[in-house]
Amino acid sequence: MRIIVFGACGRMGQQVIRLAEEGFRGASLHAGVDLGGNQSGFPCYQSPADVPEGADCIIDFSHHAATKSLLDYAIKAHLPVVLSTTGHTDSEKKLITEAAKEIPVFFSANMSMGVALLAELAKKTAALYPHANIEIVETHHNRKLDAPSGTALMIAEGIREILKKATFLCGRGGHGKRADEEIGIHAIRMGNIVGTHEVLVGTDAETITLKHEAHDRALFAEGAIAAAEFLCKQPAGLYKMQDMIKF
Ligand SMILES: NC(=O)c1ccc[n+]([C@@H]2O[C@H](COP(=O)([O-])OP(=O)(O)OC[C@H]3O[C@@H](n4cnc5c(N)ncnc54)[C@H](O)[C@@H]3O)[C@@H](O)[C@H]2O)c1
Repeated sequence: MRIIVFGACGRMGQQVIRLAEEGFRGASLHAGVDLGGNQSGFPCYQSPADVPEGADCIIDFSHHAATKSLLDYAIKAHLPVVLSTTGHTDSEKKLITEAAKEIPVFFSANMSMGVALLAELAKKTAALYPHANIEIVETHHNRKLDAPSGTALMIAEGIREILKKATFLCGRGGHGKRADEEIGIHAIRMGNIVGTHEVLVGTDAETITLKHEAHDRALFAEGAIAAAEFLCKQPAGLYKMQDMIKF
């Protein structure tokens, strides 16, 4: 699977290229595209129009402003696209939906396969234990600005798809019992921790703990390459992590 990496000179683009050079999941680097152009020790172009033919898939870790030119190129070249960039405007999201009618497009703001699996397992567990108490605990480094993490909220939203009456309580304090339908979401901030998410599902008789620990941002690059491998076998359409890990 020969990949074109958009944002090839950036932090995440470099992670994808390192993995492709190691042959991770059968990937290899076809070319990079970056505003920085060809100063990088691998074939890298400022414009996708200059990339030679022969690629199988595009992985994007650039900037959402690149969406239009990226999708125009992908449609013209009939290439599947893994969009890992975040921050798209509504009109860019519309372009993505339109493009997915013509080519396979994978779009996820969190490329961690493990986090997607955790969210899915949390939903399954909630469905099996609808009367349990559910609490989510997330731990991140002391530089993180938002709390709770977007991922913790995403996991809680997933559980609420199953337990429709669930309410979220971000941080517990004061005096009084927890409500039955409450999902407590707790944020710990310390040191240099990349990101840990734990979902506790407890009854009076047992507790189930589901936990994902991120050690390195490389997990997003690994997820993007796994998504590319999945996408190359799909017809045109819009795909997300949950489609890939369906069980
Ligand atoms: N989905 C995920 O799991 C996930 C994980 C990490 C980062 N991200 C997102 O990926 C993106 C890149 O993150 P990063 O940390 O590598 O950023 P970065 O700033 O280190 O790298 C971005 C690169 O893209 C290049 N670029 C910008 N506009 C471009 C364009 N129009 N065409 C081609 N190249 C262009 C820049 O020159 C730069 O080299 C961000 O949107 C970030 O939020 C997503």
